Amino acid sequence: MDISILGSGYVGLVTGTCLAQLGNCVICADSDNKKIAALKKGIIPIYEPGLEELISNNLEGKRLIFTSNIKDAVRNSEVIFIAVGTPSLDNGEADLTGIENVARNIAINMAGYRLIVEKSTVPVETGEWVKQTISMYIKKKIKFDVASNPEFLREGSAISDFMHPDRIVLGVESKKARDILVNLYKPLNAPLVITNIKSAELIKHASNAFLATKISFINAISRICDKVGADVQEVAEGMGLDKRIGRPFLNAGLGYGGSCFPKDLDAFISISSKLGYDFELLKSVKDINEEQKTLLLQKIKDTLWVIKDKAIGVLGLSFKPNTDDIRNAPGFDIIKALQTEGAKIRVYDPKAMKKAKDFLKGIAFCKDAYTAAKGCDCLLVVTEWDEFKELDFVKIKKLLKRPLIIDGRNIYAKEAMQKMGFTYLSIGRAPVNG
Ligand code: UGA
Repeated sequence: MDISILGSGYVGLVTGTCLAQLGNCVICADSDNKKIAALKKGIIPIYEPGLEELISNNLEGKRLIFTSNIKDAVRNSEVIFIAVGTPSLDNGEADLTGIENVARNIAINMAGYRLIVEKSTVPVETGEWVKQTISMYIKKKIKFDVASNPEFLREGSAISDFMHPDRIVLGVESKKARDILVNLYKPLNAPLVITNIKSAELIKHASNAFLATKISFINAISRICDKVGADVQEVAEGMGLDKRIGRPFLNAGLGYGGSCFPKDLDAFISISSKLGYDFELLKSVKDINEEQKTLLLQKIKDTLWVIKDKAIGVLGLSFKPNTDDIRNAPGFDIIKALQTEGAKIRVYDPKAMKKAKDFLKGIAFCKDAYTAAKGCDCLLVVTEWDEFKELDFVKIKKLLKRPLIIDGRNIYAKEAMQKMGFTYLSIGRAPVNG
C-alpha cells in the first residue's frame, strides 16, 4: 500500500519503518527540516534498539522515503497516519494544534479518496474534530474516511511491540476503512479489536491509565511494606501469580515517567472533567507517583543527615532502560533536589548523558558506573539498566567513601548486598533482620 506518516517522532518513525518492513511504500513526513535531512542519511534522533538498522534497510530497499513536504506525502498515498505530538498544555489538556494543522493540510492537498488514521494518543472525540476540520477545508467533493488505530508500543522494545502486538485496535466507520486496515495488518497475525472511533480512542487512554494505576497501586503497597517490614517484591509475586492480576507493571520504585503516562493521565483527567466526570482515582495515581520521589529523597536524608557537600553517585538518567529518553525521568527531579541542597553529583547513564547535558548543569558526567561511584558518600540507582545489575561490588565498595547504596528500582538482592557489607536501602523492602 502507499502510506504516509505525518510526524516522524517516536511513534511515527517506528510505525513508518515497520510498515515499510512489511512491504509497503511509506513516506515519513515531518516539518522539521533538520530532522528529515538527518533521517535521509540514516541518522536517527533517538536511541531505540534495532531501529537504525531497520531504517537503513528500508531506505536502501526504497520502501521508505523521508520528506519535509507534507503536500507530496498527502498527494502520493491513500492511507495517511497522523502521528504528530500532542503535548500537555499548562492546564493538563492535550494540545491538539498539531493534529488540527495536519488535518487542514490533508484537506487542502488530498487528490482522491484518503483514509486518515489517528495514530497519536488523543482525547476521545478527536476523530470527530478531524472529520469536521477536513470537511470544512476540503476544496472539492472528495470522499474520505477517518479511523483510529492507537499504538501500544513501548520505548526500548518498540519494534518487537509493533511487530508482535497483543492486539490491534481499529476504530472504523465504513467497510472500506475496515478492509484497508485489516489488510494492512494481516501480516502481523494479531488479534483484532474492531470498534468505533470513540471506543478506540478510549481504549488507548484507558490502557495507559490502568497501567499507571497498577504502578501507583504497588508503590502505595510498598509504603505499607516499609512500615511493617514486609517485602514488596514478594507481595507483587504473590499477587501477580493470580492470572486476573498479572505480574507485569507491579514493580515498585521511583514511579513512572516518560512522554506517555504523565501526559496521557493529565489529558484523560482533563477530558473527563470537561465531560462532567471528576476522575479522582487518576488524580490519586498521579499524587502517589509524585510522592515516590519525595520518599526516596527522605530515605537519602534519613541516612546521610546533612546533604550539603556530600558526594552522591547516580546510576541512570533515562526514564527507563534501553532508551535515551529523559522526558519526565524521575531521576532528574531527584538530582535537582539534591543539587538544591548542595550535594555534589556524579552521574553515569549508558545512553542518556548526551541529551541530559543540556538540562543538568554543574554535575560530573562519568564514563562508567565505577567512575561515578568514586569518592561518593552514597550510590543511588534511578534507572534499572541491565549493566548496573552486573557490577563488581567489591570494586564499588572500595571506590565509595562509605558503603551506602540507595536503590530506587529494587534491582539488587538485599541479602547479598548486606552480606557484602553495604548499607542497602530500597523501596518497600526492609533490610534483612532490620
Ligand atoms: C507506555 C505504554 O506501556 C505503551 O503501551 C504505550 O504505547 C506508550 O506508553 C505510549 O502511550 O506511547 P512507555 O512509556 O514507552 O510505554 O514505557 P513503559 O514500559 O510503559 O514504562 C512507563 C513508565 O512506567 C517507566 O517510567 C517505567 O519505569 C515505569 N514502570 C513500569 C514502573 O515504575 N513499574 C513497572 O512495573 C513498570
